[in-house]
Amino acid sequence: MSARIRIAPSLLSADFARLADEIAAVEAAGADLLHLDLMDGHFVPNLTFGPPVVAALAAVATVPLDAHLMVTDPDPLVTALADAGVQRIAVHVETCRHLHRTLAGIRDAGMEAGVALNPASPLTSLDEILGNIDFVLIMSVNPGFGGQAFIPSALNKIRRLRRLIGEQKIDISVDGGVDPETAGPLAAAGAATLIAGSAIFGSDDRERALTELRRAAQRGNES
Ligand code: DX5
Ligand code: ZN
Repeated sequence: MSARIRIAPSLLSADFARLADEIAAVEAAGADLLHLDLMDGHFVPNLTFGPPVVAALAAVATVPLDAHLMVTDPDPLVTALADAGVQRIAVHVETCRHLHRTLAGIRDAGMEAGVALNPASPLTSLDEILGNIDFVLIMSVNPGFGGQAFIPSALNKIRRLRRLIGEQKIDISVDGGVDPETAGPLAAAGAATLIAGSAIFGSDDRERALTELRRAAQRGNES
């Protein structure tokens, strides 16, 4: 199985009035990345934050920032997010008319480029683009909100994606409903980066929650 599983807390479920403290807490607990959900109230029925807030978070974060763009028009955000200090960006395949160009723009700006797939979007949409990406973000909920129930078909999708990727160096990330119960099976299926919001920030003890998640993931990874 793959090396150490990475845990990326999703700030969507954090206390928005105390984001710097929340970041410090999950970094102290060993977070590998910070997952930032940018939503436009159009592609998804929720609205979060944009580059100025991301820049403020980058100023206090010490781990890489992972931006997940749930917006109808991601292209205008790419440069602003690079300038803000983001290290990797996932765009939804459902939003990109010119996916190849968008991904090239992300890499040209010095970031890792990823494609996010909604639960109903097929892996075949990656066929022509695997050589141009650094990671795939498999959605195991419909995007827009934290705390939704895990969609179990994501497990099989990840297994199939693992086979499709073969020896290529492409990270499989999974987002939605990741908790100590689903983390093990997800890691065993081939997910290498687990994004978790409510499972971490829904707990009074962020450190304990993150450690529990990591243990469950590592057990699945070694199974
Ligand atoms: C949902 C977001 C997720 C969200 C996951 O659209 O992309 O990153 O924070 O939340 P949980 O882990 O609570 O399912
Ligand atoms: Zn996300």
